[in-house]
Amino acid sequence: MTGYFATCARGLEPVLARELAALGADSVEHGRGGVKFRGDSALLYRAGLWLRTAVRVLRPMLEADVFSTDELYDAVRTIDWADFMTPDHTLAVDCNVRDSAITHSQYAARRVKDAICDQFRERVGRRPSVDPDQPMVGFNLHVHKNHAILSLDSSWGSLHKRGYRPVQTIAPLNEALAAGLLMQAGWTPETPLVDPMCGSATFCIEAAWMALNRAPGLTRKWFGFQGWREFDRVLWNAIRDDARDAVKKDLPAPIIGTDVHPGAIDLANQNARNAGVAHLLKLERKDAGQARPPAGVAPGVVICNPPYGERIGEEKEWVPLYTKLGQVMRDHWPGWRLFVFTSNDMLARKVKLPVKQRTPFFNGKIECQLWEYGTEGKK
Ligand SMILES: C[S@@+](CC[C@H](N)C(=O)[O-])C[C@H]1O[C@@H](n2cnc3c(N)ncnc32)[C@H](O)[C@@H]1O
Repeated sequence: MTGYFATCARGLEPVLARELAALGADSVEHGRGGVKFRGDSALLYRAGLWLRTAVRVLRPMLEADVFSTDELYDAVRTIDWADFMTPDHTLAVDCNVRDSAITHSQYAARRVKDAICDQFRERVGRRPSVDPDQPMVGFNLHVHKNHAILSLDSSWGSLHKRGYRPVQTIAPLNEALAAGLLMQAGWTPETPLVDPMCGSATFCIEAAWMALNRAPGLTRKWFGFQGWREFDRVLWNAIRDDARDAVKKDLPAPIIGTDVHPGAIDLANQNARNAGVAHLLKLERKDAGQARPPAGVAPGVVICNPPYGERIGEEKEWVPLYTKLGQVMRDHWPGWRLFVFTSNDMLARKVKLPVKQRTPFFNGKIECQLWEYGTEGKK
């Protein structure tokens, strides 16, 4: 059993902890910005493949209080790196520093690389070389308030990059956050899902993959652990093949995305095709004011992340949209549960429906909340 730390957007920790527990992880414990857990190689491979809300899965190797890059260098040299790699492995170090005496992250990364390479050169006369793009062993160095944690990065490249959204739009929701919000909302695949401001269709695509039991990492080309010395190719192939066999063909309930912007629907269709779910989703151009529930299904979940003024326009401009959403829901969607993800409390209150719950999450650096409303009655 090895200890790991899966990172995620702040607010998602309890959701990620539930995902890890469901995968069979041991000693699951959530902290700030991530979740600690223990597991064997099979669990690590499953985590990379299946976690929908994690950004990366790290294997911490060293924790030390360091006040200079020389101290960092010395601390890194206390590990016997021959246990984890050979001079024939390539390496790279990714680093972030915050509120510390060490301020230059690239230099700190270089000192870590030097410490490892110097150890090899002194012992065997050869040293690993650097491959910044796809190293066989990728390191993550995190220094906060002079406390350094050096980890092997089992993901190398954020897990939220699923590969279906190559083009950046104005304000797309991070895929891992979208999946986490669906889980937080308690949406289950047997229930219909509608996003009346779907943009690039992130909620719809993530929901479809959840409903199809499609592992989010299934078409990912590279996980950091694949370059590790201990990588068990046979085990990995078996786990990936099981995940391929587990993908279902049909959705048990409709998933619908609409947006007023024709460009958004084109993009949504393109992303849905990339994700292999275009034939399953209903995506069409429509103003949120015209949104009506699908016929012949029990009430389900409406979820959206309307513009909130911080990134695409000023907040007051969006008051009528939030008000209209609330009116439409009250008039036409009785029994449905409405979830709105926004950073703007003033706008969220313009929905004017009874607020059942609100949960804070970070969307990058922006503090947002997922507001849940009932669709009957006034505020
Ligand atoms: C923040 S973006 C949503 C991003 C989306 N969640 C994604 O991941 O791409 C807000 C969306 O609301 C849409 N929108 C704005 N006003 C609308 C309206 N009246 N009816 C429907 N959609 C609207 C915009 O076109 C935009 O795509």
